[in-house]
Amino acid sequence: MLRLIFIVAIFATSAFGGSICPSRKEIYPCSCINIRIHRRNIITIVNCYQLEDSDHLNSIFPALRSMEIDRFYLYDSFWKANMLGAAGESQKVLPTDWITLLKIKEIDIIDSTLSSCFACGWKINCKNTVTTSFKVTNSSSADRICSLCDVGRGNKSPWTGCMSNLKEFHFNYGKLTTFGIDFFPMAMRELITLNLSYNQIVKVDSNVLKNLPKLLKLDLSHNAIEFFDHMFTSQETSLQYLDVSWNFVKTIGPDLFSSLPRLKTFKADNNGIVELKRSEWEKAPESLKNIDLSENPIHCDCNIRWINSTFNINVVFQGTCSTPSDYGESPIRRASRFLLERCDSVGRMGTRKPTSKSRNARRRA
Ligand SMILES: *[C@@H]1O[C@H](CO)[C@@H](O)[C@H](O)[C@H]1NC(C)=O
Ligand SMILES: *[C@@H]1O[C@H](CO)[C@@H](O)[C@H](O)[C@H]1NC(C)=O
Ligand SMILES: *[C@@H]1O[C@H](CO)[C@@H](O)[C@H](O)[C@H]1NC(C)=O
Repeated sequence: MLRLIFIVAIFATSAFGGSICPSRKEIYPCSCINIRIHRRNIITIVNCYQLEDSDHLNSIFPALRSMEIDRFYLYDSFWKANMLGAAGESQKVLPTDWITLLKIKEIDIIDSTLSSCFACGWKINCKNTVTTSFKVTNSSSADRICSLCDVGRGNKSPWTGCMSNLKEFHFNYGKLTTFGIDFFPMAMRELITLNLSYNQIVKVDSNVLKNLPKLLKLDLSHNAIEFFDHMFTSQETSLQYLDVSWNFVKTIGPDLFSSLPRLKTFKADNNGIVELKRSEWEKAPESLKNIDLSENPIHCDCNIRWINSTFNINVVFQGTCSTPSDYGESPIRRASRFLLERCDSVGRMGTRKPTSKSRNARRRA
């Protein structure tokens, strides 16, 4: 009896148990490795390097179809098809019904060249409950990816919507220019992390997260975004981590924090923020414990006195003043404390020289 319970327990925890790798010949030119993690549990990893085109990848489709794959990597591929120009576009895609027929938990495509409609090859209804992570890194030169695929008879359907258990979606080192409402036209109910860093995003649609009810982490760093507060409007989000560092942000906008009641970390370093407006920051939620404003041209005058009392010492507040010269490179919170003493009741800075304390602060910071 005990033994039976033991076996049942193992089956329950390993519904997805990986598969024994097929023979080298069956999976060539890709390779497969098994890593044993428990006595009966294995991880299955398939690696494909330098495949010429989609047909090349399709040649191992039969071997992959019967497997449960934990991680699938496609590296440095489809470059031969890329050399054909427009004629090669149809050979820079995932094979037909790949998303529906394969059981792959994590898909990683790296240093390859994908057409913008790379995931739209369907013959049967698209459905996938296995994939939890989809990452595309340095593999697309398209300014937008087809989110809606043509499914015949004039109907369109989103390929991302096929993956009903997707938790992570990364699309990095690409050339996307827009983060639009069309990106996730259907609700992605399990999506927790969305990472679009290292693109060329200029435009962000308003209310763009409306179909991502569980999103906790959003990384939009290393883009060209100037305004982003409107993307949260009209509803509260569950977001805990927001990274807009390395963009062209000048202001966080008056309503940013009203729709982010659970935010814990806000990274906005390496932007063009000059003014820290009390009216914008005062709405920050209690949960906010990490703020990074390093490398911004922040002006520290009497208007930043509110910082010391608004963000207590438990909040990690990174960033230094840039101007005026009295406070150059002084940590913002410290400057706000000095200014509390220095400014008069109408908010004019006295002429007191910077104290030696502020020079020490600089060294310690
Ligand atoms: C992107 O991929 C190309 C082609 O494989 C490679 O030459 C380049 O170094 C990669 N860039 C990055 C940032 O990894
Ligand atoms: C987003 O992707 C970049 C590039 O791959 C990576 O450095 C960064 O850590 C990722 N961010 C998150 C939140 O996963
Ligand atoms: C700064 O805030 C702390 C509480 O967080 C308070 O004890 C301290 O007096 C304030 N400093 C000044 C100069 O008002």
